[in-house]
Amino acid sequence: MIYRCGKILVVLVALALAAVAVYLGACSGSPQQDSRAAEDEQENPLVSGRQFQPHVAGSGLVALRPGETEAMIVYSGPTHGLIEACGCDGNISGGLTKELTVVNRLRQKGLPMLYVHPGDLLPYEKQPIKLKFVAEAASHMGYDAIGVGDQEFRGGFDRLRELATQHQLPLLSENLRDVNGGRIAPGHVIKDLAGIKVGIFSVVSDQWYVFDKDAFPEGITIEPTREAIAKVLAEFDGKVDFIVLLSHQDRSIDRKVAREFPEINLIIGGHDERMITSPIRVGRTLILNAGVGGDYVGTVYLAIDPSGDVRVLAHEFGVASGVVPKNEKLEEIYRRYVKESKTQPEIYSDDDPDLFQSSKTCEPCHKKIYQKFMTTKHAQAWQTLEKARRTGEPECWSCHAMGFGRKTGFKSARQTPDLANISCQSCHPVMHDHNDLEIKADLDFALNQKACERCHNAVRSPDFNYWEDIEEVDHHDVEEKSNDPPPDYKHWRALPEKPKAGGKS
Ligand code: HEC
Ligand code: HEC
Ligand code: HEC
Ligand code: HEC
Repeated sequence: MIYRCGKILVVLVALALAAVAVYLGACSGSPQQDSRAAEDEQENPLVSGRQFQPHVAGSGLVALRPGETEAMIVYSGPTHGLIEACGCDGNISGGLTKELTVVNRLRQKGLPMLYVHPGDLLPYEKQPIKLKFVAEAASHMGYDAIGVGDQEFRGGFDRLRELATQHQLPLLSENLRDVNGGRIAPGHVIKDLAGIKVGIFSVVSDQWYVFDKDAFPEGITIEPTREAIAKVLAEFDGKVDFIVLLSHQDRSIDRKVAREFPEINLIIGGHDERMITSPIRVGRTLILNAGVGGDYVGTVYLAIDPSGDVRVLAHEFGVASGVVPKNEKLEEIYRRYVKESKTQPEIYSDDDPDLFQSSKTCEPCHKKIYQKFMTTKHAQAWQTLEKARRTGEPECWSCHAMGFGRKTGFKSARQTPDLANISCQSCHPVMHDHNDLEIKADLDFALNQKACERCHNAVRSPDFNYWEDIEEVDHHDVEEKSNDPPPDYKHWRALPEKPKAGGKS
């Protein structure tokens, strides 16, 4: 038997504070309890949306038994390299700063605690400058383990190893192998928690190549996930009391893993990015997911008795609301990042030779649409940063300005004032001479939900509803028959020579 524990009890607390106790079965589990019929794969409908469950251990609903110690396993979700919170009203989305606010509050409880991140901690884009600051910031979070996800490789494989060593990041990866077949990071670790041994390991999906061949640098191989899990569980056998898997794969695969390997107590999902408001229970395994961006931090409360028996007492999500207090250390790292990227703006994409232009360049031929557009929030995106006094922060530019990270895109408000806003090109990737060159703007692009979700992602725009919001930005209703430019119309920037018929001038 892999771990010793009497029974695992999960108490899911509805908002009305009615406790619903669910026995997940003794560890030596009877056959009925192991059968699929005993599975409860439904997300708990009692708690919906973004509300979170109160911590109940001290509330009298679930009392600790004499001699038991309470402990916490705290987890977050992919933070995509965000350091700062955006400071938006009502929804202070994202970032390590926000995550740390919640975690520090949890730390004040003074309970023994393990703190883990399931991967995709580093930026989504190839941002060499940002990368090093995020790695440095991560080293101040106090993680006990960080799963390696696909995003960890955006700066290349050697760079990841370098940063992990420099900042002593506790990376884990059981089944990623480098060019020489060696491990990228340790596969697993055994940690002490209030006297019990907790085995933590991390895997990535071996199915990725099917849909994203480029996720990993060349030469990196993925061992079959199933075999990697079986191997590490054999390794843990007899040595640990509680097992946590940081799983960088799809939720449906997590369910399969839970069914096949009931020894695993918690599966904490990363890549999937969809928050699980109330733990999914498969047999006696809990599948958890905190969603994206450091918005929510999940806590599993455990009761540990002197013999090493473990009960899961409760699960809750913590969220920082109101003003996120500055964290001195992270703030200082962020300031250095802002400063360094001012002197050498970070160009992380060279696959985009297009010229970025302001909406002004489209105005001569699309007057009415331009006028309507200028009344929308998109045309005010830069002013929003001005009002918040945050125009100097590159972390905001990819969505509140045009083409940040591209050669011809936004650099700073001083260098590229025309691009300090969202422009028509965000939804219509054509240049203002498209008509001269007989290039038709592809309206399907603007109508593609993905075009919006680049900015309206789960972190920054959690309430985005494409089907409603598209009505607000569409300007199909604007009657504009004449697209002839006025006589004094001039090109805005030097453009490539228009090919001349016949080839001779
Ligand atoms: C020199 C005049 C001119 C300028 C400047 C111009 N357009 Fe156009 N645009 C046209 C004309 C003419 C059409 C209609 C073409 C057609 O229906 O084939 C058009 C059509 C479009 C369409 C609709 C395409 C369709 O399939 O119905 C979009 C979108 C568009 N332009 C976007 C832009 C954007 C964005 C800019 C600025 C970056 C821009 N245009 C600048 C002349 C211009
Ligand atoms: C380049 C990034 C970007 C893209 C692409 C983008 N948006 Fe936005 N959108 C923003 C930002 C930033 C704001 C907030 C502007 C502000 O208030 O300063 C916003 C605001 C909005 C609002 C107003 C929300 C409110 O609070 O009233 C709507 C509606 C909206 N976007 C819909 C869309 C739709 C639909 C698409 C796709 C067709 C889209 N956006 C594409 C960045 C983007
Ligand atoms: C990934 C794209 C993205 C990034 C990066 C981004 N924003 Fe935004 N921001 C949005 C979108 C989209 C909205 C509109 C939100 C909505 O209404 O759904 C918005 C809205 C806002 C608003 C106004 C809405 C409110 O709730 O107050 C502020 C203020 C804001 N952002 C500040 C920032 C700051 C500061 C940063 C950098 C630290 C930042 N944003 C980075 C996409 C982004
Ligand atoms: C937030 C996304 C967004 C932005 C920004 C945006 N558009 Fe559009 N645009 C759309 C959508 C959506 C449609 C409708 C496509 C459809 O219904 O076929 C559209 C349609 C158009 C059309 C075709 C209209 C028609 O009747 O066929 C033109 C021309 C156009 N846009 C020009 C512009 C210009 C010029 C700007 C900037 C001043 C701009 N758009 C900014 C989303 C956007």
